[in-house]
Amino acid sequence: MIYMDNGATSWPKPPEMLEAMTEAISSYCANPGRAGHAAAARTAREIYRTRTAAASLFNIEDPARIIFTRNCTEAINLALKGILRKGDHVITSSMEHNSVLRPLKQLESAGISTTVIRCDRQGRISVRDIRAAIRTNTRMIVITAASNVTGTRMPLEEIGRIALRNGILFMVDGAQGAGYMDLDVRRNHIDLLAVPGHKGLMGPQGTGFLYVKKGLELTPLVEGGTGTKSKELEQPRDFPEGFEAGTLNAPGIIGLGASIRMIDRIGVSAIRDHEERLVRKLQRGLEGITGVTVYGPEDPGEKAAIVAVNIDGIDCETAAAILDERFGIAVRAGFHCSGLAHDTIGTGDIGCIRLCPGLYTSERDIGTVTDAVTQLAALSAMRKTE
Ligand code: ALA
Repeated sequence: MIYMDNGATSWPKPPEMLEAMTEAISSYCANPGRAGHAAAARTAREIYRTRTAAASLFNIEDPARIIFTRNCTEAINLALKGILRKGDHVITSSMEHNSVLRPLKQLESAGISTTVIRCDRQGRISVRDIRAAIRTNTRMIVITAASNVTGTRMPLEEIGRIALRNGILFMVDGAQGAGYMDLDVRRNHIDLLAVPGHKGLMGPQGTGFLYVKKGLELTPLVEGGTGTKSKELEQPRDFPEGFEAGTLNAPGIIGLGASIRMIDRIGVSAIRDHEERLVRKLQRGLEGITGVTVYGPEDPGEKAAIVAVNIDGIDCETAAAILDERFGIAVRAGFHCSGLAHDTIGTGDIGCIRLCPGLYTSERDIGTVTDAVTQLAALSAMRKTE
């Protein structure tokens, strides 16, 4: 199989992750923070190691401000529902994933209003539009680091400065950016960063986290056991355990730690160089095929490792099925949980095929994918003329 669905979940996983998880499960993984015995203490130490690895990758000062979640969606929900209050106004973009847009829609019933800035057909946002949307009650700007449909990267540093100058919280959905972009929370003035563990960070599914800047208070999404203040009925608000009620996914978090340390060793910029080279080759190849439309910015330097396309005469779901069954190429087609982004780029009625190379994709794989799409486009053109 040629795996081109790294935007949904990265695969294969690094051997370091598999080894760390296997060792944890087979030799020590107990319940961290719930007992003083050696196995529980070691599990707690390993989880703290993941916190410090994540803190170092994103230039986060205090690892305790990292709250582990099940995924990026949960992290986004925790941030939005834990911070926004009645009367608050939020600015976001039309390229957001439903993990941002649906909680914001839900929050309308709690008296929170949202302005959605319409991006251009390449998925680019205008910072002038963001400035113009600011109201006296604007509490937060929520922007994806990069679109999960076109890969379009957002100007985080500029938006962060606007938020800072206007006393507005800046939240970034790092789903497609973490492990690929330089998401430095201090340089970009990011107050809240939601990150999945299973995409660019190369960790297992069931992991993710929310970074919350020091001094910011939020309400927990879930109440329950924290391993602390057990005689109190009130949910503790201490970071991070007050927001991580219930037993953590310790093997997953330990595996994530091993993956993050591996990424740190290789370097995010080296990973980006590798994937950008692949995207450039893929995009050039696909653009040269008659009957293929490529969406999003032309310059791979403006994108995450995502190439969105359609083939004339074949709907995207059928094309994805043929790529899988006949060519052994795994892609995701349809609307990618981002209907508004598809409306923005002009594929609101048809969706598209999304090709996402990853750390383990080779230039040869890209050649095979381009050849397969060439054959598919030729087949479709032939059918049309019959
Ligand atoms: N959010 C993931 C995607 O874009 C699942 O495919």
